[in-house]
Amino acid sequence: MAHLTAESRQRINDIAARYPEKRSALLPALYVAQEQDGIVTDEAIIDIAELLEATPAYVKGVASFYTMYYRYSVGKYILQVCGTLSCELCGSGQLVNHLEERLGIKEGETTPDGRFTFETVECLGACGGAPVMLLGDKYYEKLTIKQLDAIIDDLRFKPASDHPEPPQLVPFEDKPAGAKST
Ligand code: FES
Repeated sequence: MAHLTAESRQRINDIAARYPEKRSALLPALYVAQEQDGIVTDEAIIDIAELLEATPAYVKGVASFYTMYYRYSVGKYILQVCGTLSCELCGSGQLVNHLEERLGIKEGETTPDGRFTFETVECLGACGGAPVMLLGDKYYEKLTIKQLDAIIDDLRFKPASDHPEPPQLVPFEDKPAGAKST
């Protein structure tokens, strides 16, 4: 894996210059590293520590703590389904089961073509929209299996750089994945 490029180092230095203490720029610096290689590499951790005057152990600890940083290889699209109480009660388990079946992988795995990774995560802070899935920086709330299928179909053939548009709202009678019929 690569060390930070001169461009990435410059970006981190520019960000750090906005803070009284360099290490305050750690979170955006980790994003810069992740943008460069798709994951936060060990080499990038060493470089960031040097640039921000922190220890590699400190940088590694922060990178490991937050779920938005990846230390292992992941797919181009990362589907994060909330598995916490509100979403669980509203059917996130059914979404997870459907993803496993549809993508042929288990939670935490990546499809052989490297296109999709899916994982369950703790509360995404949008409990009123349960069940919720996060894809990139987009939230999909009150997600149905039908909408999930539409998202996957859309992403299967998209250039990797494209992020999907939120799906069209389903007709009112279509209920979220776990909703019971009345
Ligand atoms: S419980 Fe799922 S977003 Fe909060």
